[in-house]
Amino acid sequence: MTVILRTVGEVRAWRGALPAGRKVGFVPTMGALHAGHISLMALAKSRAAVTIASIFVNPLQFGPNEDLAKYPRPIEKDLALLEAAGVDALFLPEVADLYPEGASTFVVEESVSGPMCGAARPGHFRGVTTVVLKLFNIVQPDLAVFGQKDAQQCAVIERMVRDLVIPIEIVRGPIVREPDGLALSSRNVYLSPEDRAAAPLIHTSLQAVKAAFDAGQHDAGALAAIGRAVLGQDPRFTVQYWDVRDPKSLAVIDNVGRGGALLAVAAYLGTTRLIDNIVVS
Ligand code: PAF
Repeated sequence: MTVILRTVGEVRAWRGALPAGRKVGFVPTMGALHAGHISLMALAKSRAAVTIASIFVNPLQFGPNEDLAKYPRPIEKDLALLEAAGVDALFLPEVADLYPEGASTFVVEESVSGPMCGAARPGHFRGVTTVVLKLFNIVQPDLAVFGQKDAQQCAVIERMVRDLVIPIEIVRGPIVREPDGLALSSRNVYLSPEDRAAAPLIHTSLQAVKAAFDAGQHDAGALAAIGRAVLGQDPRFTVQYWDVRDPKSLAVIDNVGRGGALLAVAAYLGTTRLIDNIVVS
């Protein structure tokens, strides 16, 4: 049975009552759970004795014109999925629990969070790092699992954990895809039937670039151009970025060397923004 913890005090009491030495695995989410999230729960369960998830639609990581108000919040369905996944506890805070009146302290990572989604969504990663550090301080897990679909978020959190000497292991869970290749996302529900039919082209573009890389093309600019050309075949897409970058620092690279590369895309279909990526090495 999944215990629901609604306040910081309840989490602390739950955490304090666990037998000493029990490894705690944490999966922070914004809810609207799908098979991708459930795979992260399974990963946490395989790596820790006790698992806790959180559901919190974090206002600080949404821009003024983004989808905070309409972000899906199917809490009953989410709870049933967490129960079925055997998650031990769920932290379900209110905004005031995490952002007390007049909160004026924020966490800012200043390098990895700069390009890509950071450039396209100013303030987004400041919101992510701030809320994730708060959640870490409340839950005090031994390890925390994040989805590779948000590759930049993973890199930003890994950098924050390293730089601030946070004693938590960060584990990346692989991307889960629909049979046609579309990466699972809570935002896929926004897609019209026509846009949903077009959406797998994002994955097709990643695969085309991976094939070119595997065939010997290691020039980052040429690889990105292939990806943009594939996605450009369908005028429904507005490409925000199609980048080939260093997988850890997210720096621009000229050539893909021994460290491999992150192939990363963000594109709009109508008003829905989709992201996806593959690592090649
Ligand atoms: O990936 C998400 O769902 C969110 O960015 C996170 C990590 C839960 C922080 O709000």
